[in-house]
Amino acid sequence: MTTTEQIPALPRRQVLCGIMAMGILGSATLTACSEDTPAANSPSDSAGTPSGSASASAPAAGGNANALAQVSQIPVGGGTIVDAPDGTKLVIVQPVAGDFKAYDAACTHQGTPVGAPQGGTMTCPNHGSKFSAADGSVQQGPAGTPLKQVSIAVSGDNITLA
Ligand code: FES
Repeated sequence: MTTTEQIPALPRRQVLCGIMAMGILGSATLTACSEDTPAANSPSDSAGTPSGSASASAPAAGGNANALAQVSQIPVGGGTIVDAPDGTKLVIVQPVAGDFKAYDAACTHQGTPVGAPQGGTMTCPNHGSKFSAADGSVQQGPAGTPLKQVSIAVSGDNITLA
């Protein structure tokens, strides 16, 4: 059995996300590996209807080299995980149209990176803490403090650190 015999069963995005998770594609690589479920992927998603986490890929060619992500990669009501230039994982969200926020993805309980928002909530896979995408506040422990907000700037289609 070869590796290529195992890959065809995986969607291309999962394969790319796996590669990015291994750090093969660089430090500023977008790691938008959403946890899409069939229920979250309604047919209306392709029309831009908010549904949860992003299905973004790397910043588009011609974008700002310092961009963390492109506006078009952050769905309204959702978000995505990116790597900051220093290697910090950030979660960028757009709770309502045109309102972008970023948080340090490190869970305030023990530091495990939270996942991209689903239904307005970011969940830590380690012990299940939940945080509001709207303000980073704790919705469910054991974490006791909100996610740390990170200042970002939006210019055109580019989202950068402020
Ligand atoms: S590290 Fe996130 S809930 Fe424990």
